[in-house]
Amino acid sequence: MMDLVLFGIFPYVAVALAVCVGIYRYFVDRYSWSSHSSQFLESRLLFWGSVPWHYAILVILLAHFLAFLFPQGWGTLLGRPLRLYLLEASGMALGIATLIALILLLARRAGNPRLSAVTTVADWVVLWLLLLQVATGVYIAFTLRWGSVWYLHTASPWLWSLVKFDPQVQYLAVLPTVVKLHAINAFVLIAILPFSRLVHVITVPLSYLGRPYQVVAWYRQRRSA
Ligand code: HEM
Repeated sequence: MMDLVLFGIFPYVAVALAVCVGIYRYFVDRYSWSSHSSQFLESRLLFWGSVPWHYAILVILLAHFLAFLFPQGWGTLLGRPLRLYLLEASGMALGIATLIALILLLARRAGNPRLSAVTTVADWVVLWLLLLQVATGVYIAFTLRWGSVWYLHTASPWLWSLVKFDPQVQYLAVLPTVVKLHAINAFVLIAILPFSRLVHVITVPLSYLGRPYQVVAWYRQRRSA
């Protein structure tokens, strides 16, 4: 029963919340649809935390999506030991990068009074949940070896069953608790998306790619600013 609630019902509640509240917030408070920058308060640690975090997590999430969408192709890709080792090792390296970057971002906000002052409860919740997500992910990668392969026979069919509105929770129910936690927390993150700065995931500024360059110039010393 618990498995059905967690893996068969909660994912729909999370997605429904994300879509409905997201649309509501877009029309009622469009300016808040972003991740308000704190760069002007502190930029050095932000750079070392935020840049590696975004590059590494995007690649990891892309791998999650590709394995989910194309399990057969992904299986063929991993069919040779060398490719399997390379992919697993890259995943582990990127996973550790996300972990370090996130710890840096958390320490940055906790250790700087000016930043703590502008950090809301929702900001803390997001950072800690992300830490839980990547920590469990890295733990899985290191302790439950060849996750990139067994994902194809567990997570991928489970996610497809959700897409087809025919939840097959047994795929997840048999997995170790840490994997269940990782999967559920992913949907918790989706659920809180419209209530937090995570909403910027949907408003990726793609238009930046095509627009003319914009030169940002400081007209006085940063330190005195
Ligand atoms: C918000 C969404 C998610 C995020 C941010 C996320 C993040 C991560 C991270 C950082 C890793 C470590 C990568 C590595 O070191 O190889 C990982 C691994 C993993 N994740 Fe997720 N994950 C998400 C959703 C999911 C979902 C829904 C599942 C399905 C059960 C899942 C299953 C796995 C598995 C099986 C691994 C181990 C991969 C391996 O051993 O190579 N993840 N995840």
